Amino acid sequence: MKKLKVALLLAVASVTGFSSTVYAKDFRLGMITPPPHVWTKAAVAFGEDVKQKTEGTHSVSVFPSRQLGNEAQMIQMLQAGTLDMAFLTIAEISNRVPDFGAFYAPYLVKDVSGAAKLLKGKVAKSMLKQLPKKAGVIGISYGMGGLRQIVSRDEINSADDLKGKKIRITPFEPIKDFYSGLGTAPTPMPLPAVYDALANGQVDAIDMDVELILKLKYFEHAKTIVLSNHMMFPMIGLVSAKVWKGLSKQEREIISSSMEQQLNQVIDTYVTLEGPWLDEAKDLNVKVLAPGQDFFSAAQAQWEKKWGKKAPILKELRKEAM
Ligand code: BEZ
Repeated sequence: MKKLKVALLLAVASVTGFSSTVYAKDFRLGMITPPPHVWTKAAVAFGEDVKQKTEGTHSVSVFPSRQLGNEAQMIQMLQAGTLDMAFLTIAEISNRVPDFGAFYAPYLVKDVSGAAKLLKGKVAKSMLKQLPKKAGVIGISYGMGGLRQIVSRDEINSADDLKGKKIRITPFEPIKDFYSGLGTAPTPMPLPAVYDALANGQVDAIDMDVELILKLKYFEHAKTIVLSNHMMFPMIGLVSAKVWKGLSKQEREIISSSMEQQLNQVIDTYVTLEGPWLDEAKDLNVKVLAPGQDFFSAAQAQWEKKWGKKAPILKELRKEAM
């Protein structure tokens, strides 16, 4: 709360119900995605909703594009209470709370509709309860990006063709294990560094979603795009547990309901747009493979052996995903 901007003390009595004596607050929300990204637009819409529901008393300043640091640094700031909120991939959360690694089980879902169902489901919701104690944050709800695909500088015809290649990954353990299991050299790299690394051959291929393959034009440096849909990519809306403690019941209710609504909207956007984006990728002047699940079967067995133990919630997620 210390870092919240306290502007003035207001006594509000309104028909819409935001009716207690409250300090005006400007909540700071950090994220790594750039301003035009679906997640960033949802954060801005969330801020507008909070402003409207608190009759202009509270506002949310959104800091996109890693302006406040990378996801690991933002989690530390949330823990310290020096950042109020964040929309993050669950990558860093899974590094701290291993059960969250279960979401990255290869082929846990077969398409974005399956991912949407799982992320709005009971098991995913129950997992949020672990976060205050284990990570010092309140997990409000999930959003998501599209399923993961591969863009390769070289021609690819089978999983064996990826062996020994440097493949850019988002920095987190479960995906590193997946690509190690394939016999590749997984290379952790944040999003802003990816285009140049692919263009100049610092990496041979990248793990990415189809939205960004198109929007950030990674296909310009590809001989093959593998539309494998091999992994889902959840996002999560977080509030600092320290900040949460200082909020009234009414403020918590407004923040939770507005954030959940926007994150559900993010999920629905991917359900609507992923199909057309996949079709657009198939029409590029690049070789496209659309293999079945057996493409990565060797890596899957190895992944399951390790993460089945590390993330016991996987069994329940699988049951719900069926
Ligand atoms: C990535 O690291 O690939 C990524 C991060 C956030 C949104 C989309 C993709």
